[in-house]
Amino acid sequence: MPHEYYYTSKKTDDFCQEICGKDSSRAALLTRLRCMLHGIDFRLFILLFLIFPLSIIGIYVHGQKITYFLRPLWQSPPKPFIDVPHYYNENVTMETLCSLHGWGIREYPRRVYDAVLFSNEVDMLTIRWKELYPYITQFVLLESNSTFTGLPKPYYFSNHRGQFKFVEPRLTYATIGGRFRRGENPFVEEAYQRVALDQLLRIAGIEDDDLLLMSDVDEIPSSHTINLLRWCDEIPPVIHLELKNYLYSFEFQLQHKSWRASVHKYEKGKTRYAHYRQSDLLLADSGWHCSFCFRLISDFIFKMKAYSHTDRVRFSHYLNPERIQSVICNGSDLYDMLPEEYTFKDIIARMGNIPHSYSAVHLPSYILENADMYRYLLPGNCIRESG
Ligand SMILES: *[C@@H]1O[C@H](CO)[C@@H](O)[C@H](O)[C@H]1NC(C)=O
Ligand SMILES: *[C@@H]1O[C@H](CO)[C@@H](O)[C@H](O)[C@H]1NC(C)=O
Ligand SMILES: *[C@@H]1O[C@H](CO)[C@@H](O)[C@H](O)[C@H]1NC(C)=O
Repeated sequence: MPHEYYYTSKKTDDFCQEICGKDSSRAALLTRLRCMLHGIDFRLFILLFLIFPLSIIGIYVHGQKITYFLRPLWQSPPKPFIDVPHYYNENVTMETLCSLHGWGIREYPRRVYDAVLFSNEVDMLTIRWKELYPYITQFVLLESNSTFTGLPKPYYFSNHRGQFKFVEPRLTYATIGGRFRRGENPFVEEAYQRVALDQLLRIAGIEDDDLLLMSDVDEIPSSHTINLLRWCDEIPPVIHLELKNYLYSFEFQLQHKSWRASVHKYEKGKTRYAHYRQSDLLLADSGWHCSFCFRLISDFIFKMKAYSHTDRVRFSHYLNPERIQSVICNGSDLYDMLPEEYTFKDIIARMGNIPHSYSAVHLPSYILENADMYRYLLPGNCIRESG
């Protein structure tokens, strides 16, 4: 009936002039409403059949951008960290360095455990373990045959174990079968694997007051940072490490720093392996975080599918290899998303491509010593091998 109404405007014009003037009768309410609508019926028509559906499509395509842009309205920033200044120069003695931090020096260093959940980042793991090698008592690595999103994966570490002979005497390695629950939140599988990592640490022989590094494979503390923390007394029980944040390679440095990696003085029955905020303290300039720093385009695709935030892969063209290659060289966003910031000013400041950096100063030494092998991580080498 409303349709009929729209198309018989000539007739209803007269009809309305009669009714719309009067306003006493309640029975005429519906008719009066119709009259009011009549005045805007064409605009209403456009609204209903053009703008409304277009908005739905727009929200579907850009919904994430809209919610991210409005983040300052729906989420307040987390409590800021307390920045702990970090002092280092290779020519300054450990005693002096410890005292600059307000800490004493120990007679002998603490034992240090480095524990990671492994997916497929063989290159990052090599660079990490070479960087930390001098100061780590036990390298603890757990890998599953399931990604966090419940996709089956090979035991990549097991398949490449021959490349890691240099840590073999100090390695505690285990595998864990995935649970393969369909449609479950990926954070549940991740939490399940982290609990197993706690058990593996006890098997590896961790004891009270040993240092434990909790971080992802691609969050690499600099070796001098770990050396400082193992030698100094009275360090905080839990401290986060502020890492320089890179995307795709060391050519693209993000402005915001990474903070999730942490170092713990192990306490039996209390320390739990986690990757969220566990302390207010943040030690400045403590290493590197290189996200999506992969050699092959196929590694990007695997990670995009295996990543905990799979809700971000909304469109299959995001997984198109040519698009991924062009995103890497442009320093733009794989998911076409806005930066996660808490003020409009910061969002706008960080929109657009990441500027290129040409500095390869103070990178993990193993990369520079093996530059031919890790060329793709250095500035000016954004083209990836396909396959
Ligand atoms: C560091 O110490 C060595 C030996 O003491 C000295 O030869 C060198 O010049 C020092 N380097 C710097 C940058 O001070
Ligand atoms: C994963 O590993 C578990 C335990 O070894 C095994 O039972 C299961 O069949 C494996 N699943 C896949 C998909 O490989
Ligand atoms: C990368 O940049 C080029 C040139 O500015 C542009 O044509 C292309 O669309 C960009 N690619 C992506 C995926 O943003």
